[in-house]
Amino acid sequence: MTNMATTTEPPRTADISWDGVDLQALAQKLGTPCHVYSATAIRQRIGALRAALHGMNALVCYAAKANSNVAILQLMTEAGFGADIVSAGEMHRSLRAGIPAQRIVFSGVGKSADEIVEALSAGIARFNVESADELHLLQRLAAERGVTAYAAVRVNPDVDALTHAKISTGKSENKFGVGIDEARRWFAESARLTHVRLDGLHVHIGSQMLDPDPIRMALRRVADFWRELVAAGHAINSIDVGGGLGVCYRAGRDQPIAIEDYVAIIRHALADFRGRILLEPGRWLAAEAGALLTRVIRVKQGRQRRFLVTDAAMTELLRPSLYDAWHEIAPVTLEARPVQTYDIVGPVCETGDTFAVDRELPRCEAGDLLMIRTTGAYGASMASNYNSRPLAAEVLLDRGRYAVVRQRQTFEDMLAGERPVRQWENA
Ligand SMILES: Cc1ncc(COP(=O)(O)O)c(C=O)c1O
Repeated sequence: MTNMATTTEPPRTADISWDGVDLQALAQKLGTPCHVYSATAIRQRIGALRAALHGMNALVCYAAKANSNVAILQLMTEAGFGADIVSAGEMHRSLRAGIPAQRIVFSGVGKSADEIVEALSAGIARFNVESADELHLLQRLAAERGVTAYAAVRVNPDVDALTHAKISTGKSENKFGVGIDEARRWFAESARLTHVRLDGLHVHIGSQMLDPDPIRMALRRVADFWRELVAAGHAINSIDVGGGLGVCYRAGRDQPIAIEDYVAIIRHALADFRGRILLEPGRWLAAEAGALLTRVIRVKQGRQRRFLVTDAAMTELLRPSLYDAWHEIAPVTLEARPVQTYDIVGPVCETGDTFAVDRELPRCEAGDLLMIRTTGAYGASMASNYNSRPLAAEVLLDRGRYAVVRQRQTFEDMLAGERPVRQWENA
């Protein structure tokens, strides 16, 4: 038996209230699992980022994929931020939340013709183009509509972001962007683009970056390329430095780059650039502002391990299953209890539905409320209905008040659009 240790160390306790809201009372009222987000924590991040950017010609385009709930997007609208989108769905959410089209940039390797048409019709600010095929499609679709599309080349600088392989995007073997040689050819031939104004550069090398060196290196390559393009007579009006700034999932282990230091790297790399600098942070704005509330369904003593089975699963928080990501987990109680070691698992029929292995926690019982921390980004936005589990509720907390910003799905909601065959049709 490997995880049976019992000690009487003082328990680590979770906060009982957050952003002025009693979490036990909230969970009692709304049920679990349930994502909670602190508006105050998000506004603090927004404020810190704005302060760091002071005096720069910069626009923050929040990466909607991190947390695309319209209430979170609305906080970005209130801050004057734009959005970085990777689908027409994210564009609809961003517009619904009041983000002006002129502050929306569209990234992604697989923009479909329909999505490009929707984005052109909405009048978004810029397409971050990731392949020659996409560039030609954009030219054709813009020409057909008699509009001009503004575009940036997403440069793949072949830099290792030193992060998890599944969220590393800036190496030459990754599907994202194009190499500098290819980008150079695009600019050389850009006069032929009658309806695309290719006047921007874009780079995004990965997510959850904790080491500043790859960021410095990627920006140096992009800045060198920008100078070369200007020397060749091309006008570059915007440089988009992407997102990727890491956060602290594990206290004492993860040491995020301070926002001032991150912005200083950008200021230094692009010191003589007079155009607009775009930033696309996602995780850094939202991750630490969110937590997942879950109840213990049962404690199961296996033959080798002690399992804490929670009502949250990989369907609400995929990161541990997908990336072996570490999230801090704590009971929402101040009661002192002896510490025990558990594997913390969800009810989904996958062994990978595991939040933590060999984790020490104050002893838990069925019915206890737990808080899984740092789930504000890539939590609810990666949720699924696997095992026919309705999507969890999402709740915004704000200085003692709360608002349900996504209703827990009902079985009817979950089944909407599905039906047994009543009639066959011919294509
Ligand atoms: C193009 C682009 N921009 C921005 C982001 C946001 O990254 P992060 O949430 O790490 O800041 C991503 C996410 O991978 C991305 O693909």
